[in-house]
Amino acid sequence: MAIQRPKGTQDLLPGTIEQWQYLEETIRSVCREYGYEEIRTPMFEATELFQRGVGQTTDIVKKEMYTFQDKGDRSMTLRPEMTASVCRAYVEDKLYGQPQPMKLYYIGPMFRYERPQSGRFRQFHQFGIEVLGADQPIVDAEVISLVWNLYKRLGLIGLEVHVNSVGCPICRARHREQLQEFLAARKSKLCNDCQERFERNPLRILDCKNPSCQEETVGAPTTKDTLCEDCSTHFEKVLAILGRAGVVYRVNPRLVRGLDYYTKTAFEVMVEEIGAQSAICGGGRYDKLVEEIGGPPTPGIGFAMGIERVLAALQVQHKLPEEKPKLFAMLIAWGEQAQIEGFALLSALRSQGMPVGMDLLGRSLKNQLKSANRQGVRYALILGEEELARKVLVIRDLTLGEQMEVSLVDAVEEINKKYQRGV
Ligand code: HAM
Repeated sequence: MAIQRPKGTQDLLPGTIEQWQYLEETIRSVCREYGYEEIRTPMFEATELFQRGVGQTTDIVKKEMYTFQDKGDRSMTLRPEMTASVCRAYVEDKLYGQPQPMKLYYIGPMFRYERPQSGRFRQFHQFGIEVLGADQPIVDAEVISLVWNLYKRLGLIGLEVHVNSVGCPICRARHREQLQEFLAARKSKLCNDCQERFERNPLRILDCKNPSCQEETVGAPTTKDTLCEDCSTHFEKVLAILGRAGVVYRVNPRLVRGLDYYTKTAFEVMVEEIGAQSAICGGGRYDKLVEEIGGPPTPGIGFAMGIERVLAALQVQHKLPEEKPKLFAMLIAWGEQAQIEGFALLSALRSQGMPVGMDLLGRSLKNQLKSANRQGVRYALILGEEELARKVLVIRDLTLGEQMEVSLVDAVEEINKKYQRGV
């Protein structure tokens, strides 16, 4: 049997890749406008980075990592997310020595051994940003508003932005205690996963999707009831800035993110139309993470969005740009000498930035024209033996059905004029 690609992965083929390029280009221009610079880190890291960074009790570290021993017997892991990697680079490459804050973004593949389903892959792609070295509420607002404005630029509608504050280690310990007290008598009615979470990560029970867990947690103490004054003031300021900036959000006191490093602000963006995996973006503040992995105390905040899910949302909302013809003109040449001359003409056109092509299969004149029409190119550049003898080229406008003759010496300039008008 022919070898197949691994489960939960995708081949991104011509016809689809243009959508990815469009989204990536839009992302890059929004990042430029907000003053973020790109960072690329290795696709695999020492396993310990994610164990310490993402957290030993999280689903990602417990069940979903692609971990292997390399030939030097070191434990390595394909990155399941990039926040820990960016913090590692911040420490290792001494980015804290540069003017702060560092405003970084990334686009790239992540790997999680999850049960594949619509919108959930084992190799998926994230666009994310991380701001390191700034603890002010205005930074939280900038990060959330970047997401908001990117979605607006893309034309997405019906988004729900959920925000919460998960507090600092001090208020979180208090929340954990109160929550365990509340849930103790209800423990047996929780799902198996939540019974396990009761000891190691009870906060996660609050956002379990299981209906019986949701029922049992009605009236449970939320993070809102236990925030300390500093966390609460910080949160109020973030909300005030967001409101004034026109970001439509909903405070969701049950929002608890699935990674351990969050402190204070946490947020998620949902689009219901794309199905069960409706979270297209998640993020928050992580003021202890850099220290956790051995760096100087450094506040941080960021988010990551699933590229596949954003594309799915753009697709259902019909917001993807229409496919355009890839080539501007096709050379239609016949006769060996005309082909050689035509080939040289194409090189000259390409060197001036024009996307042009010619037949590579030895087709007849009629079939070359048919193929040019099928590809939707605007111009056919016709060069036969007779034209070559007169040192001319016929430029046929396939849309209007008109044609003109130009001398071969002027051909590049004439075609370029048309190209500039069309672009
Ligand atoms: P996360 O919530 O694990 O956060 O992932 C962020 C986004 O990645 C999700 O909202 C979803 O759109 C997408 N995603 C996650 N898993 C999959 C999957 N298996 N298939 C398809 N898409 C997926 C993080 O990764 C944090 N590093 C975000 C962050 C950055 N927090 C602070 N800075």
